[in-house]
Amino acid sequence: MSTLLEQPEPDIIKVSILNEESIILGFHLTKFMIRDVISNIPSSTYVIITDKNIAPIYLTKIVEDFNIIASEITLAKGKNALKPRLITYIIPPGEQTKSRDTKAEIEDFLLSKACARDTCILAMGGGVIGDLVGFVAATFMRGVPFVQIPTTLLAMVDSSIGGKTAIDTPHGKNLIGSFWQPKRIYIDLIFLETLPEREFINGMAEVIKTAAISSESDFIILENGVEKIREAVLNPKRDVPFQGAKLETRTPSQSLLLSVIMASAQFKAYVVTHDEREGGLRGLLNFGHTIGHAIEAIMYPELLHGECVSIGMIKEAEIARHLGYLNQVAISRLYKILQDYGLPVSLEEKKVKDLVGKKFCAVDKLMEIMKVDKKIQGDQKRIVILSSIGNTYEKKATVVSDSVIHKILSPAIKVLPVTSSPNISSIHITMTTPGSKSISNRALILAALGVGTCKLKSLLYSDDTQVMMVALQNLGAAKFEWENNGEVLIVTGGGGNLQIPDNELYLGNAGTASRFLTTVCTLISAETATQTKMHTILTGNARMKQRPIGPLVTTLQENGSQIRYVENEGSLPIEITPSQTKFKGGKINLAASISSQYVSSILLSAPYASEPVTLSLTGGKVVSQPYIDMTIAMMKSFGIEVKRLEDNVYYIPQGKYTNPSEYVIESDASSATYPLAVAAITGITCTLPNIGASSLQGDAAFAVKVLKPMGCTVTQTETSTTVKGPPIGSLRPLPNIDMETMTDAFLTASVLAAVASNSDEGEECITRITGISNQRVKECNRIAAMVHELTKFGVVASELPDGIQIHGSKTQSLKGPASGVKCYDDHRIAMSFSILGCVIPDGTIILEKKCVEKTWPGWWDDLESKLGINLLGVDIGSDQESIIFIGMRGAGKTTLGKDVAKALNREFLDLDHHFESLLSTTISKFIEEEGWDAFRAKEFEILKSVLSTHSSGHIIACGGGIVEHPSSRDLLKQYSQNHGDVVHIVRDINDVIRYLNKDNSRPSFDDELLNVWNKREIWYNECSNLDNKIGGSSIDNLIEIIRKTKRTFFVSLTLPDITPALKDLPTITHGVDAIEFRVDLLSENGNLPSVEYIFNQLEILRRASSLPIIFTVRSQSQGGKYPDTQEKEMFLLLEQAIKSGCEYIDVEILMSPSLISNLIEKKGNAKIIASWHDISGITKWDGEEVRQRFRAAQNIGDIIKIVGRASCLSDNFKLRNFVELQQQHCKKPIIAINMETEGQLSRILNQYFTPVTHPLLPSKAASGQLSVAEIHKGLHLIGQLPKKKFYLFGTPIAHSMSPTIHNTGFDVLGLPYHYDLFESEDVKAVKPIIEDIEFGGASVTIPHKINIIPLLDQITEQSKLIGAVNTITVMESEAGRKLIGDNTDWLGIFYSIKPLIEIDSKTTGLVIGGGGTSRAGIFALHQLGVSTIYLYNRTQDKIKELIDQFPTYGIIGLSSLSEPIQNPPRIIVSTIPATSNLEIPNEIFSSGKGGVIVEMAYKPRRTQLLKKGDEKEWIGVEGVQVLIEQGLCQFEKWTGRKAPRNIIEEIVYKKYDS
Ligand SMILES: NC(=O)c1ccc[n+]([C@@H]2O[C@H](COP(=O)([O-])OP(=O)(O)OC[C@H]3O[C@@H](n4cnc5c(N)ncnc54)[C@H](O)[C@@H]3O)[C@@H](O)[C@H]2O)c1
Ligand SMILES: [Zn+2]
Repeated sequence: MSTLLEQPEPDIIKVSILNEESIILGFHLTKFMIRDVISNIPSSTYVIITDKNIAPIYLTKIVEDFNIIASEITLAKGKNALKPRLITYIIPPGEQTKSRDTKAEIEDFLLSKACARDTCILAMGGGVIGDLVGFVAATFMRGVPFVQIPTTLLAMVDSSIGGKTAIDTPHGKNLIGSFWQPKRIYIDLIFLETLPEREFINGMAEVIKTAAISSESDFIILENGVEKIREAVLNPKRDVPFQGAKLETRTPSQSLLLSVIMASAQFKAYVVTHDEREGGLRGLLNFGHTIGHAIEAIMYPELLHGECVSIGMIKEAEIARHLGYLNQVAISRLYKILQDYGLPVSLEEKKVKDLVGKKFCAVDKLMEIMKVDKKIQGDQKRIVILSSIGNTYEKKATVVSDSVIHKILSPAIKVLPVTSSPNISSIHITMTTPGSKSISNRALILAALGVGTCKLKSLLYSDDTQVMMVALQNLGAAKFEWENNGEVLIVTGGGGNLQIPDNELYLGNAGTASRFLTTVCTLISAETATQTKMHTILTGNARMKQRPIGPLVTTLQENGSQIRYVENEGSLPIEITPSQTKFKGGKINLAASISSQYVSSILLSAPYASEPVTLSLTGGKVVSQPYIDMTIAMMKSFGIEVKRLEDNVYYIPQGKYTNPSEYVIESDASSATYPLAVAAITGITCTLPNIGASSLQGDAAFAVKVLKPMGCTVTQTETSTTVKGPPIGSLRPLPNIDMETMTDAFLTASVLAAVASNSDEGEECITRITGISNQRVKECNRIAAMVHELTKFGVVASELPDGIQIHGSKTQSLKGPASGVKCYDDHRIAMSFSILGCVIPDGTIILEKKCVEKTWPGWWDDLESKLGINLLGVDIGSDQESIIFIGMRGAGKTTLGKDVAKALNREFLDLDHHFESLLSTTISKFIEEEGWDAFRAKEFEILKSVLSTHSSGHIIACGGGIVEHPSSRDLLKQYSQNHGDVVHIVRDINDVIRYLNKDNSRPSFDDELLNVWNKREIWYNECSNLDNKIGGSSIDNLIEIIRKTKRTFFVSLTLPDITPALKDLPTITHGVDAIEFRVDLLSENGNLPSVEYIFNQLEILRRASSLPIIFTVRSQSQGGKYPDTQEKEMFLLLEQAIKSGCEYIDVEILMSPSLISNLIEKKGNAKIIASWHDISGITKWDGEEVRQRFRAAQNIGDIIKIVGRASCLSDNFKLRNFVELQQQHCKKPIIAINMETEGQLSRILNQYFTPVTHPLLPSKAASGQLSVAEIHKGLHLIGQLPKKKFYLFGTPIAHSMSPTIHNTGFDVLGLPYHYDLFESEDVKAVKPIIEDIEFGGASVTIPHKINIIPLLDQITEQSKLIGAVNTITVMESEAGRKLIGDNTDWLGIFYSIKPLIEIDSKTTGLVIGGGGTSRAGIFALHQLGVSTIYLYNRTQDKIKELIDQFPTYGIIGLSSLSEPIQNPPRIIVSTIPATSNLEIPNEIFSSGKGGVIVEMAYKPRRTQLLKKGDEKEWIGVEGVQVLIEQGLCQFEKWTGRKAPRNIIEEIVYKKYDS
């Protein structure tokens, strides 16, 4: 008995695949399906597997229906028949379910339920369920039948069809699986009604893809059906039960949806049938997927598959356009349809950015992923090349070169200069440029209303013209057909016969179309009206519904047309009812002071009015007369001549337009300036056939008024323009040019002016462009932007009140900015600078290349393929965020900043210099005049603007006091948390003070420097996310810190009392970066330590080591010894530790939240390590608890420490996965380790602050702890710390101590490095050595210290000053491997003197000798803060040379050592051989005992000079000590680790003395 509520027998459609009709489509299919399955796939057991989202909605009903139907069927079969059983199994939703684990789980479940060979498995769900369950079915009992019940759109049109099944592995998606065809696929569209919107949109990507490669008519259905299709899924009509099951109840939306899904499914089935195992044809389905998959690999799960494919389709279509196979029309359609369905079309979209946060797709990464994509064969990438909508270039994917893919994917482009050659002047290019929008719109109306066929050439394809064409088609006005790859539109005009359209005409936001079509619609004859179609409705989007149309409508109403506002008076939507007389005509008055489009609207339709029209324009001044003239001129080309009776009165005769067989749309005149400018700047000839002297567009005068006077040869006809440029470099400046009538073209003119350097003798090469003040309020302030960007090239340019002034330069003297030209999202800036790039040596990077899409989407393709300019794709994407250096002045921000910038291929910007040059003043002067407050405020403003204009590609060094201003601090904090790194450059404050005391060029402080430091230190800390306290100040180490690749360690002291271990402390701390002071492990006479005892011990530790201290108290439940009951006391200790200046404080996150937040408030300078120890050891690294703990720690700490427990090796891999995942969004350093021996690997792999032990300690702080040497050895064995070779270059070197110094150090720290001698006279002999991949660095000595420089890639600022290199380091970065020359000679001297003497502003020094070493001596004394340096050398020339080189160092030359000296030296550095027997007079020592002598000669150990010093009770530093000191510095630069000084010294001295 069937009631109304019972599910009717559905009307279904069958699609065949692999020659069987196994795909079934329809609505409400469940009962049909159950019957079909039981009857046709007989089994004893059916298993439905689905996911947790779907089961609650659908499963119960299906099980019920199954039982009823199964009983029915069994009954019908007779007594002996057995009723099949149904089992269900529900698994979690989401991609992570597609795993080996879940597969095993399902199999175990099936086995436990005694499922055997005659089991049929039904996969009900999306692609995840289908792929996974399909694979289970394929291998269970060597394969059992299975059925697909797709419930997502994606599954319906894609994943359920074709038999591909798969699961994911940690190595990638879908890597394991098989082909296993389902017996049936039931596509029941009803499932879509509960699908989340985003999943529906996701599936639409595949639907659109299929149409794009297979059928233009399907594509058109999709284009026109957006609203209906969305409605069918997202707000389905529910008037009757089981709506849609039967044909009678199916809504139009449902029918459309079904036809669309069927078309997609059918095509996939067709392809699979003809190419089951993915040969060529099936590859077509991969359109958008080659790039889409690569994006997905990075962006999943933030972006869904379809969303990535959508972006991929656009990129792949752009590749097709670039290769010349696809036109812009097709791309624009694809773009629009994807957007209409809600899909993203670019990674730059805000919607996408909101979803993915900080994640980004580096182009190289995408290329890398594509290389290993399994669909790619060999090393050639294949991409489906679309040749038009619905067709592909080949019936398979096409091989595309990497360089093309790279270029298209790159967000920025590099324009390479043309090579100037004599035959360049013979190059002649003819090209058409994008048509004018106004003319395109008019031409469409004219040709549609005309009689006959017209070929429209160079029509602009834009949203506006697209809307216009669709509307004209719907009005039955004309037929349109594209020809010649979209270059020609064939219009078959309908002669003005229009009919009422079936639906309302939707015009989006196309203003011109709405105005022109309003009058056109009054031409519809009343005879076309029917019962259901009575009027025409013109409507648009929300924005359109606010735009005015009132004056036009009023005029038409007065003329007798029936027009009604449907919503708001004066705007769309409007309803036009046809009248018997149509558009009446006759005398018409129109207010024309608002928009010339109203006038053009009436003019265009006037010939078709019932009476000839006399149009009078009223209301004062007519706006935009040129556009009215344009309309009249174009009407004439189509055979209708408008007569101007008097000013503002026009007579339009009756008639029909006669279509010319061909009509070339005039070029957009602004666009036309670009290719002409290319000709001008490169010296080629360029002809544009679609713009000439008769053009009414203002910018059309560019060739004659700008290019000609600049020295180009210009030939124009009425409709064409040819420009031939003079030889490169010989454009002439234009002293004064008013561009008021062509303001948009000023940018093009400006870049030409930048290289217009050919003026008459003695004249300045200045171009002044005026009359362009409106350009300040365009896409950006174009005048300011031009000045700013031109300046980056080295062009002198400035703003004028209503224009710009530019000094022309020789092209060779200009240089493209390393960080690229910023385009401010302005197409004209991008195109203009690409023209400048045609002649700038080394190429010019243009950022945001995408912005040209606004008017010329194919610009880059045209620039390359038509104008012959070479382009490269570049990605200076988000990983190039500028890095900011802050710190006290004198700390080395500039020196290090310049070095780091160079090493990382960035640009260096000194904020102070920037300030001074922007304001054309000095900072001292500014402060003097305006005061400190004004200075800080201005400084903040400038920082802010710099961070927006130089946000990538720079190293920015700030003034020391930047942190004084609260807003600047906020800005820096924000920057370090959300954008790029802010690095605190730290230098010993006493060095800074001494160094600064003699520098008068910078403003003085009010306070003492030390007070300043005390005040600022906290601020520097809170504003920065990195500091170079750990790892010293060499650029190699600093770069490791910036890249976060530097490994750091802290040693956990487990001593009950530190005093007895003091002698071992230097050894215990070898190679570590900090010391953990484990308070709870101290013991005072066997008891818990008292507060006094603890801080007394801390004091002792401080005095014994300069390493930062981590203060840790652990309670018993946290694995320590402190009583759990004494939480408050523990926090009091932590607070006191902060006061005592401990650098790091460890806090367990499970302690009382109020105590923790109280502590954080007081943390001052200290950094908090928020730690969580999973003492239970049962938490899993891939579980939710760890994630929660991590988040909690992230909220509390500056550093996050998570300690788990490993029970097997793989726990360490899970840990690393966890860390890598967290690092994607967390910028704070992470310490993550597993305890126990099984966890040792995690300690080896941990990067930041790995806790270590040392054999000299009584015990390990935790089980599994390793020493630094052990970790290094471990890293080496697992390939993470490759072997390196180091050398000494020079001669003679046989007796050098350097091998002993370095090899001892390497050995102690367990580093797999070795140091050897390489003796040679000829420096070139070292070439093969330094090029060797294992080369790690070298010391350089006489005679190569200077002539080695040409063999290196970069030398540090300090080596440059000293003029010599004694150390080579190797830096690996994305910019490649770089050899850097450095100097540690001065450091050896510096560190030898520093601990021995207090230096103040009166301290003087003496340097003896004038060679290379004496330069190092002078430099060291200067860095120490010595303000007067006496210099003695036998030849006076040398002295003069050195004074000239270091003019600000206070050097006083001595002609003889006996010369009376006013302020005798406290420090003597002697750089002459011990054998020179120079007599040092007693007066030199007259400053009294306690001075310091540094002897650079080291044979014999006690030289004459040292002996004399002994007599005078001066402190002597032996040459060997300086040698060791500079060696230790070298060691630290090479290894990033402090050298084990005590052991090295011991061994070197032993050897030296023997
Ligand atoms: N085998 C193939 O040829 C092929 C082709 C394309 C994609 N795939 C695979 O398909 C998978 C993606 O499939 P998907 O996009 O369908 O995702 P999915 O299976 O994860 O489903 C998406 C979400 O929608 C929910 N859902 C599904 N149907 C629903 C419904 N009717 N009502 C409410 N919620 C519902 C699911 O529970 C899930 O949360 C990927 O693993 C992909 O690799 C396979
Ligand atoms: Zn896909």
